[in-house]
Amino acid sequence: MTRHIHVIGIGAGDPGYVTVQAIEALNDTQVFFAMDKGEQKSDLVALRREICTRFIREPGYRFVELADPKRAADGEYREAVSDWHAARTRIWSAAIAEELGPDGVGAFLAWGDPSLYDSTLRILDAVAADVEFSFDVIPGITAVQALTARHRIPLNEVGEPVLLTTGRQLRERGMSGSAVVMLDADCSFQTCPAHTRIWWGAYLGTGDELLVAGTVGEVGARIAALRTQARARHGWIMDTYLLRAAD
Ligand SMILES: C[S@@+](CC[C@H](N)C(=O)[O-])C[C@H]1O[C@@H](n2cnc3c(N)ncnc32)[C@H](O)[C@@H]1O
Repeated sequence: MTRHIHVIGIGAGDPGYVTVQAIEALNDTQVFFAMDKGEQKSDLVALRREICTRFIREPGYRFVELADPKRAADGEYREAVSDWHAARTRIWSAAIAEELGPDGVGAFLAWGDPSLYDSTLRILDAVAADVEFSFDVIPGITAVQALTARHRIPLNEVGEPVLLTTGRQLRERGMSGSAVVMLDADCSFQTCPAHTRIWWGAYLGTGDELLVAGTVGEVGARIAALRTQARARHGWIMDTYLLRAAD
């Protein structure tokens, strides 16, 4: 007997994105480990709880909140992330050892899919050096899929690749062809040529969803203004966009 952990992709916003596999794993879980992201993202914590309430048939589970260590804002980015992962690893190892019995089942709920810009699997890998457990991964609907579905567009052009990147990388390296940009607090699409096409979405799959499409020249300023207003109203924002360079 060994402890087991489900890493469950819960989709990127709409409880309807939760898959049948995810529902089975939710119902198999005794302890949900959740990072406390602070008040600004309490809407996201609430959505995780709503998913549990909606899909778990016999609510005998409990939530264990794990403090989320602060990431250093200054210094080199990768070094700051690596220190932050090490601090999380210590917190997770202790929590798994203390909160799960020898044959207990725990879960981490990953926003969207755990494979995409999510550190859960990397941290669990490090935790495995300290604590014995087995784990599996349940895939979820990513923000990328939510974005293309809501705009009703294909992700790639026929036979062509797509770059998945961040705002920082877009600013530093640029793009050609098609690119999906995530984790962009700075409207980095504004650095692209005006003819670049953009399909933008914020709070995808939620009641607050915002969608805008056009060229960067036509709609770039409007997206930036909408983003600022929405962020001020909610206290947080998650937005993603697909870019296609002009031929
Ligand atoms: C830490 S990454 C997590 C991505 C997630 N694992 C996924 O599969 O979509 C967070 C970024 O995902 C994007 N994102 C996640 N959910 C979103 C949503 N509902 N609407 C728009 N963008 C979203 C944003 O770019 C945000 O900055």
